[in-house]
Amino acid sequence: MVPLLDLTRENNPLLDEIKAAIEPLLSGSQFILGKAVDDFEAAAAAYFGVKPEQAIAVSSGTDAQLLALMVLEDTMLSTTSADKRTECVTSPFTFFATAGVIHRAGMRIRFADIDPRTFNIDPLKAREAVTNNTKALMPVHLYGQSADMDSLTTLAQEKNLVLIEDAAQAMGAKYKNKPVAAIGDMGEVSFFPTKNLGAFGDAGMLIVRNEKFVEKARRVRVHGMKNRYEHLEVGGNFRIDAIQAAVLSVKLKHLNTWHEMRRANAALYRKLFASLDLAGRIILPYEEANAYHIYNQFIIRVPSANGGADQRDALKKFLDDRQIGNMIYYPTPLHLQPCFAYLGYKNGDFPESEKACNEVLALPIHSHITHDEITQVVEAIAQFLKSGK
Ligand SMILES: Cc1ncc(COP(=O)(O)O)c(C=O)c1O
Repeated sequence: MVPLLDLTRENNPLLDEIKAAIEPLLSGSQFILGKAVDDFEAAAAAYFGVKPEQAIAVSSGTDAQLLALMVLEDTMLSTTSADKRTECVTSPFTFFATAGVIHRAGMRIRFADIDPRTFNIDPLKAREAVTNNTKALMPVHLYGQSADMDSLTTLAQEKNLVLIEDAAQAMGAKYKNKPVAAIGDMGEVSFFPTKNLGAFGDAGMLIVRNEKFVEKARRVRVHGMKNRYEHLEVGGNFRIDAIQAAVLSVKLKHLNTWHEMRRANAALYRKLFASLDLAGRIILPYEEANAYHIYNQFIIRVPSANGGADQRDALKKFLDDRQIGNMIYYPTPLHLQPCFAYLGYKNGDFPESEKACNEVLALPIHSHITHDEITQVVEAIAQFLKSGK
């Protein structure tokens, strides 16, 4: 048995320190914002190389993304009819939240297909998707690897788009040595417990690199409030709990070590797989030369001759039967989700995303997985390949 993820191995050695950090908050009944949040924002800002006020800790990654869009002009309540909506271009091969927040912000979602090697938005396809109504571009750094930020930054500058990075899965990942989330105008990270930096509940952060958005973003976190009970705009309640900030401050000190552990695990997978004859039946993750991949997920592709999901699903069942953790992120592209039928997309519109949904499979890669466990995963896959299934 190999679990896909075992959070206790990472969290439990830190529990004494975490409890000590939380205790004064409990005894002082300080639960929302306050010093623990200020301290965490300062530490995270240093991590991203921005000023403390540019690191805004919030209630979840989703809320950080929604907050980013609410900071823009011409979104939310200012839109009246569908054809007048401003648009945000993003990938259909991502977690639901990415597109969900665009819809909720009152913008029209325009999808653009992915680069099949990195699973991230293809800058040429993104360019084709831009229209006169496009206001924002939201690339996702999927699985912990940066999108092609040079091309996307050029596109955003040329077309006057606000560049908002979805770095939910990628805090600490880099593009040409720059930390993602702090490259575009704004960038969001998630501290959902399974992320490389995980809270003890929901939490997230918006990095506002473009200083012109900072004040408004801080206000919109708390109902657009400037002075007490004076509201300049309609915001939300996106505040982070002080307890989560205290947990994250303790864990942040270990984040870069955990990234390196995950990268060493990825290297071990590559080494062990190198001794098998994969014959194109398993494709290992591609590492972009300009990107420092933090392996929130280690994603293999399992292609089927007919372009469908049979081979991937057969391997999934084979691993499930042997209690080897695995997961499909994500089985359905967002343009085919029932709630987005109103956009009018159909099967075949984004072939690379659709193919990826049929082929991807995540293997266990968490920081504390053992050499023996990784060997078991690879041996099980070797058996599958031999079994002729
Ligand atoms: C790509 C992506 N975007 C956004 C989110 C939303 O983050 P959260 O779960 O913290 O709201 C996630 C979380 O899994 C994600 O993977």
